[in-house]
Amino acid sequence: MFGCRNVAMRTCKHEDMNIISVLSQKGGAGKTTLVVHLAVAASLDGKSTAVIDLDAQANAAEWGDSRDLDEPAVTSAQAARLPKILEAAKDAEADLVIIDTPARSESTALAAAKCADLVLIPCRPSVFDLQAIRMTAD
Ligand SMILES: Nc1ncnc2c1ncn2[C@@H]1O[C@H](COP(=O)(O)OP(=O)(O)OP(=O)(O)O)[C@@H](O)[C@H]1O
Ligand SMILES: [Mg+2]
Repeated sequence: MFGCRNVAMRTCKHEDMNIISVLSQKGGAGKTTLVVHLAVAASLDGKSTAVIDLDAQANAAEWGDSRDLDEPAVTSAQAARLPKILEAAKDAEADLVIIDTPARSESTALAAAKCADLVLIPCRPSVFDLQAIRMTAD
C-alpha cells in the first residue's frame, strides 16, 4: 500500500470550491490513481467534482473518456490554462476540483500547488520514494 503526506497551502482560494492538487516528481508514485479514486468518492458523497488532468500522458482524461458517467467531469489541460479552467469550474458551481500532475515537471507542479487548498504527495513505503517527497515538497 502507499503512504501519503500532505501539505496545506492557501494562496489563491476560490470561495465555496476546494482544490486538491496531487503531486510527485517521481513517476508511478500513484498520483493518477489517487486522483480518480478521490474524485469518485467525492462524487458518490454528493459533491460536484471536477478533475483537471495536467499530464500530457492524459491517463486521468482517458479514464474519464472510458466512463459513461458525467461525474466526475474530467478536463485535459496545460498548466498555463489552469486559472481559466478553475474559473470555469467555479462558474459551474463545482464543490471540489482535483488536479492530476505529471512527474518531472516542476513548473506544472508549482502551478498546481499554488492554486491548491490542499496538496497531496502519494508515496510508496521505500527509501527512494521518501527521497522524492523531499524533492517534491521543495
Ligand atoms: N495505493 C496503491 N496501491 C497499490 N498500487 C497502486 C496504488 N496506487 C497506484 N498503484 C499502481 O501503481 C502504478 C502507478 O500508478 P499511477 O499511474 O497512479 O501513478 P502516477 O504517479 O500517476 O504515474 P505517472 O507519474 O506516470 O503519471 C499503477 O500500476 C497503479 O495501479
Ligand atoms: Mg499519472
